[in-house]
Amino acid sequence: MIVKSDKEREGMRKASLVVKAALEKAEQFIRPGVTTLEIDAIVEDVIRSMGATPSSKGFQGYPNASCISVNDVVVHGIPSLLTVKDGDIVSVDITALLNGYQGDAARTFAVGNVSDADKRLIEVAKAAFFAGIEHAKAGGKVGDISAAVQLYTELNGFGVVRALTGHGIGHKMHEAPEVPNFGRRGTGSPLKSGLCICIEPMITAGDWRVKVDRDGWTTRTVDGKKAAHYENTVIITDGEPEILTL
Ligand code: MF3
Ligand code: CO
Ligand code: CO
Repeated sequence: MIVKSDKEREGMRKASLVVKAALEKAEQFIRPGVTTLEIDAIVEDVIRSMGATPSSKGFQGYPNASCISVNDVVVHGIPSLLTVKDGDIVSVDITALLNGYQGDAARTFAVGNVSDADKRLIEVAKAAFFAGIEHAKAGGKVGDISAAVQLYTELNGFGVVRALTGHGIGHKMHEAPEVPNFGRRGTGSPLKSGLCICIEPMITAGDWRVKVDRDGWTTRTVDGKKAAHYENTVIITDGEPEILTL
């Protein structure tokens, strides 16, 4: 686990702003009838126009600039010619590299008119992030964040995915420590000022179990129920954490 210098933190802030801009552009673009590949092209354009590169592209063979995960797909959906339709929920997860620093964030967007239940799923993923970040302070432990995300999510009747976690971030997309969305407070790595992490609740309407498609990426719920994802890159400080991708 590496804490970041002032200079590195500045680099992380700038990379994160690229991701924020790409998410905002994707949100404006998403409507019934667009393909996930078209959404991905918009994302890649924003990233490159800001002088950054899409970190996902080529990462362990991943083919695209973004992960676009529709309905029962939790994460790592590969952009395709599939069109999104009214009532879908679409998670967009973007990592960008700028001047050697990574920013990483995800949102789940509603397409047209979605059910109240799906709206709540999206809202609880976001609120679970904020429940977690209340415990993201130097002097605490990673497990304090994990336990808060899990408690909030489960009290609201949703499941937390176990197979994938949040993570440290810096020059690399994934650094130590892992930041699970479940666990026990008081356990895990200590949180130190200058540590940079991604907190990213992945939550499900039904059971939390997931499976990976034969493409080796697309991760969906086993029970076929919908899932939502909400992620930001965050710097731990002695006081309030700094959320870089918001
Ligand atoms: N952005 C993802 C994360 O939050 C990682 C995606 S890796 C990819 O950790 F290769 F699937 F893009
Ligand atoms: Co991400
Ligand atoms: Co991440």
